Amino acid sequence: MTKLFFKYNRIVISALHRLKYSTVPKTDSKLSINGTEFVTDDYTNVTPKILSYLNRNLHLDKGNPLSMVRQRIVNYFYSSFTHRGSPDFSVYDNLSPIVSTKQNFDDLLIPLDHPSRVKSDCYYVNRSTLLRAHMTAHQSELLRSGLDNFLMIGPVYRRDEIDSTHFPIFHQVDAVRSQRRDQLFPKNEDLELFEPTFDPTKPHTFTNSISDPTKQSCHTLEATKLIEHQLKDHLLGLIKVLFGDIKYRWVDAYFPFTHPSWELEIYYNNNWLEVLGCGVVRNEILAKAGPNNSIAYAFGLGLERLAMALYKIPDIRLMWSNDSGFLSQFQNKDLNAKITYKPVSVYPQCTNDISFWLPGHLSIDTFMSNDFYDLVRDVGGDIVEQVKLKDKFEHPKSKKHSLCYSIVYRHLERTLTQAEVNRVHKEIETAAISAFNVVIR
Ligand code: DAH
Repeated sequence: MTKLFFKYNRIVISALHRLKYSTVPKTDSKLSINGTEFVTDDYTNVTPKILSYLNRNLHLDKGNPLSMVRQRIVNYFYSSFTHRGSPDFSVYDNLSPIVSTKQNFDDLLIPLDHPSRVKSDCYYVNRSTLLRAHMTAHQSELLRSGLDNFLMIGPVYRRDEIDSTHFPIFHQVDAVRSQRRDQLFPKNEDLELFEPTFDPTKPHTFTNSISDPTKQSCHTLEATKLIEHQLKDHLLGLIKVLFGDIKYRWVDAYFPFTHPSWELEIYYNNNWLEVLGCGVVRNEILAKAGPNNSIAYAFGLGLERLAMALYKIPDIRLMWSNDSGFLSQFQNKDLNAKITYKPVSVYPQCTNDISFWLPGHLSIDTFMSNDFYDLVRDVGGDIVEQVKLKDKFEHPKSKKHSLCYSIVYRHLERTLTQAEVNRVHKEIETAAISAFNVVIR
């Protein structure tokens, strides 16, 4: 799932490259995606199925667990980092997933023979265009547009097996926070971002080495250590907001676009679970795309992993479920509520509606839906999966109010027959009549 495959170092690269590289020749033709025509070539491997997910945007679906985690992360960054009352970070959550190989790889210093580029791992539209494999693909363009603090959120696409923890589309939050000398060291005018041997106005005259594991050769140790401290502090703050007190550890990592780099793992379900990658942005990237007088941290995290751990969702495929038994566990819930997913039965649902006129002394606004929900659960028991208000109506002449609820029935261990459901439904109607004095329509 959130396999951080950008982390491989050069030693494993060529072996993997030989192993995974394969081309399926294709004749030139055109492919239309979201209204734009692309010429296909021997790299084209996007499938109609994958393209059909393109505008789905689960991360923006209110009531989807991914969207809830997204919103909590955004809220954390909005509220924790402000300047004169307005948020430091801006959020981009609707960027087109169709990107160039330059955006996805070259701009991020990912070498030509890096395994993350291979056809067997990416969805290529053609040799120069692909469905982004990580949200970091937008880092350079947003820096170039003048932004210094931003979050990029959206689906990413990687060819993968499909099982309970892998799906070829998953969602990431990627971020950059950059600071000038006066922002990083507001009180210490004698501290510098860059070593005296490096002239930030002429970055090309300097070979920025990453052979020292603690820092890039252009940066001072003080600047690197302080930004590392901020990065880890900000990310641990986020993890605390989401999980409360949880065991965690930092692991040294390698990414072509950051140095030094780390991964954060949390202890969950008796296992160490990798939830994000991060580091100090390579100065070559900043110097080329953004301001040459800043140092920046960046990170990328996977929403699926966080949502699965947070809500104890056992299967990544559930995120795509349209089953109301799944969705109703997250819809209309307080964002910070502690939700623990309850398994949905594999047996089919059966939905019956109930409509009634309220007695004269009650109106749509004074009738307590929660009382009705309790009654339904009391009478229907465990086979009631969900009750939802479907419709409200006021009769134009009599001014009487009527309500319609849908009741979804499902058994955990077997398929319910319609006759059986009708019997329970009838009992609910009878109970509602005597409890609330309603008239069934
Ligand atoms: N893009 C990386 C991946 O998907 C994750 C990542 C690591 C993003 C470090 C970053 C970063 O922005 O600084 O494997």
